[in-house]
Amino acid sequence: MERTLAIVKPDAVRRGFIGDIIKRIEASGLKLRALKLMRLTRAQAEAFYEVHKERPFYGSLCDYMSSGPVVIAVLEADNAILRWRELMGATDPKKANPGTLRKDFGIDVEQNAVHGSDAPETAAREVAFFFSTLDIVS
Ligand code: RTP
Ligand code: MG
Repeated sequence: MERTLAIVKPDAVRRGFIGDIIKRIEASGLKLRALKLMRLTRAQAEAFYEVHKERPFYGSLCDYMSSGPVVIAVLEADNAILRWRELMGATDPKKANPGTLRKDFGIDVEQNAVHGSDAPETAAREVAFFFSTLDIVS
C-alpha cells in the first residue's frame, strides 16, 4: 500500500466542488486515511512549495494557495501516487484528458483545482508536513 497527499485547492473549495472531488476519489478506489479543512498562511504555502521557489510562478502560486481554505487529505491504495495523478490530469486543465478532475474543475494552469504528490519521497514529506501519525487512520 502506498500513500499520497491530496489537496482540493482554493479555487475548487470557493466554487463548491469539495463534495464532487471527494466523491470521485472514493469512486476511484483510493481510500481516505486523513482529512481536514484549513487555510494556509502565506508562510505555510511558501514552505510547502519550497521546491518551486526558483520558478517564475512561485510568488503567484503562494498567493493563490493562501487565498482561501483548502481541503487536505491522505489517500492510500496500491500505486496511490500515480493513480491520484491520473485522476487529477495534466497541470494545465486545457491539456488534461476528459474525465479528469482538472479538466472538469480547473480554471487555468495555476488555479487547477487539485494537488497531488509526484513521487514516494515527496509524498512522505508532504503527508508529514500536514499530518502527524496520530491523524492517519491505519
Ligand atoms: P501539483 O504539484 O499542485 O500537484 O501540480 P503539478 O505537479 O501538476 O505541477 P507543478 O509543476 O508541481 O506546479 C505546482 C503548481 O504550480 C502552479 N503552476 N503555475 N503559471 C504557471 O505556469 C504554473 N505552472 C504551475 C499550479 O497550481 C501547479 O499545480
Ligand atoms: Mg507538483
